[in-house]
Amino acid sequence: MLKRITADDLRVGMYINDLSCGWLDHPFALNKFLIKSEIELKKIKVAGVISIEIDTKKGLDVVVEKRKQSNLSLRQAVNALSDKKPELNAVKAEFGAAKLAFNEAELYISGMMTSAKMGQHVELEEVNPVINKLCDSVLRNHNALLGLTRIRNMDQYTFEHSVSFSVLMMSFAKSMGESERFIRQVGIGGLLHDIGKTMTPDHILNKAGKLTADEFLIMKDHVVQSRLILEKTAGLSQVSMDVAAMHHEKYDGNGYPRGLKGDEISLAGQMAAIVDVYDALTADRCYHVGREPSEALKYLLNGRGQHFSPLLVQKFIQSVGIYPAGCLVLLNNHHLAIVIEVKENMLKPIVEIFLNTRNRSYVPNKLIDLSSQTDLKIKSVENFEKWNLKPDMLKW
Ligand SMILES: [Fe+2]
Repeated sequence: MLKRITADDLRVGMYINDLSCGWLDHPFALNKFLIKSEIELKKIKVAGVISIEIDTKKGLDVVVEKRKQSNLSLRQAVNALSDKKPELNAVKAEFGAAKLAFNEAELYISGMMTSAKMGQHVELEEVNPVINKLCDSVLRNHNALLGLTRIRNMDQYTFEHSVSFSVLMMSFAKSMGESERFIRQVGIGGLLHDIGKTMTPDHILNKAGKLTADEFLIMKDHVVQSRLILEKTAGLSQVSMDVAAMHHEKYDGNGYPRGLKGDEISLAGQMAAIVDVYDALTADRCYHVGREPSEALKYLLNGRGQHFSPLLVQKFIQSVGIYPAGCLVLLNNHHLAIVIEVKENMLKPIVEIFLNTRNRSYVPNKLIDLSSQTDLKIKSVENFEKWNLKPDMLKW
């Protein structure tokens, strides 16, 4: 929904639809963009813009922000404002805060990786607020952030992978009933697990083709480098360290760097091995298009007992669902829909329909809880490319 607001009401996380001034009158390359940082926000205000049009479907809503300030939770605020059923709106209500937390985490890790290259240590005081926002969103409703992990920019792979890894680890730990402390610790480990890649030469890191044996040895060293960098971080938990130091270990002992086997790999380390592969497979890279989540889950199932702990693969699938949030599905009534929330019945999530494939016409977006439908069900998982769609086109 488009809304005109004053510059004073503008916040980080809002999506600018129209800056209401000429392209030459402001310092941004585009007139439409998401405000990702306080620096960008300041630039807009300094440019002397008085009123701005925002798109509340692509970013935070000014009303939600004000409600949040008056101590109403984000979910309560949006549910109170909406005439839709509250239970169907729980994820949608979380998207604004989730987007903000995701963007902040991405900015943090990209800055930290640049600093780490120059020898700067990771300070927990700087990581904690970033993780707290991600973790709070995961604890409120993890489907919002999980859905966002499907929207990827292949140029930002390492940073987005780090944030997605962190989100997936926290959702995984939450669904296994782990303590909030453990959830935050695996989140920190997830965000920082590949920090050692700052020491890997770019030509190896970004190589599109297969790595030579020597290049692969250098690539593998990023795990050791991550550990060495994180050892300098005062107060970092063993759980966080294990995520970084063990994410390439394999259950059968054929992983690296230490070749640990079975329960020699800690719980956090075994979880990290699953999450690393799942996220790498589902993300678009410069040299391949990401697989659909259902295909990645099949890969995990095939790797049980060799690469992954069989029990934890099962628990991970329970955590993300057979049709994870953000997945494109075709219903048996010929409507295309996006999975919004996975509930107890993994085969019947809450979906949002948006396209009638019979006449290829857009239909008004509508949330449907498939668990309350007897005849309506998912027919197949669809590929965004096949329908000439992109995950970020979806109007969450
Ligand atoms: Fe890695």
